Amino acid sequence: MFEAANEDKMYMEMLMSNVNKDTLEWAQRRGMDAQCLMTYYNCAMREVETKFRVLDEEFSLLNDRNPISSIKTRLKSVPSIVEKLERRGWEVSLTTIEREINDIAGVRVICSFTQDVYKMADALLAQDDITLVAYKDYIKHPKPNGYRSLHLIVEVPIFLEKQKRKMKVEIQLRTISMDCWASLEHQLRYKKGKHLPEMTEQELLTCAKLSMELDERMEKLRKETNI
Ligand code: GTP
Ligand code: MG
Repeated sequence: MFEAANEDKMYMEMLMSNVNKDTLEWAQRRGMDAQCLMTYYNCAMREVETKFRVLDEEFSLLNDRNPISSIKTRLKSVPSIVEKLERRGWEVSLTTIEREINDIAGVRVICSFTQDVYKMADALLAQDDITLVAYKDYIKHPKPNGYRSLHLIVEVPIFLEKQKRKMKVEIQLRTISMDCWASLEHQLRYKKGKHLPEMTEQELLTCAKLSMELDERMEKLRKETNI
């Protein structure tokens, strides 16, 4: 992609400086390749989203409740892909993007109870077109700041007219309570920069513990209610 983001800029510059037609065509072609790749990621993201919606519907039919509260999707922007490659010292090309960046397509699945998180993850991973690339359980092993979620990187095939392509998708599964903490923590960190005052970090950790306790108590109620 720059090939892609830089190309957008270069393309504009070239337009303005009146360069020859061959160069313009070349720039357009590379831009199309990047656009194409982003479209593939978008399709893979939709495939994974649909898989979770199917699982939620089936579960709801059988158990009369929804294990998934909501699903959010996001496609990483071209500038932030380029920024990540540069930050990590990798060459900026379509090849390195596909090989090195796992989180271009992101699906966040917000579940009702902690057990639902594992149920949905296991059901997805059991599907024969899904390949697990990485599994990080920040619920069993929270990050030092208190962050909890189950992270999966999977490969899912997309079927195009003349080819089948396996695309990587980052999936974050969490409960409503984990999502609440992560969203607010992100806002605080985003507003105040990466490094928060020690007191704020401590207070966030306390809130993370409260959130964990809430999940544990709700999970106990779920078991008692037998749902
Ligand atoms: P990148 O940071 O995306 O390069 O990936 P990584 O390999 O370090 O993955 P990790 O599993 O640590 O985190 C990936 C994503 O999880 C982030 O982009 C966030 O969306 C989320 N995440 C991880 N840690 C935190 C955290 O401390 N707070 C919040 N709010 N979100 C987090
Ligand atoms: Mg990321």
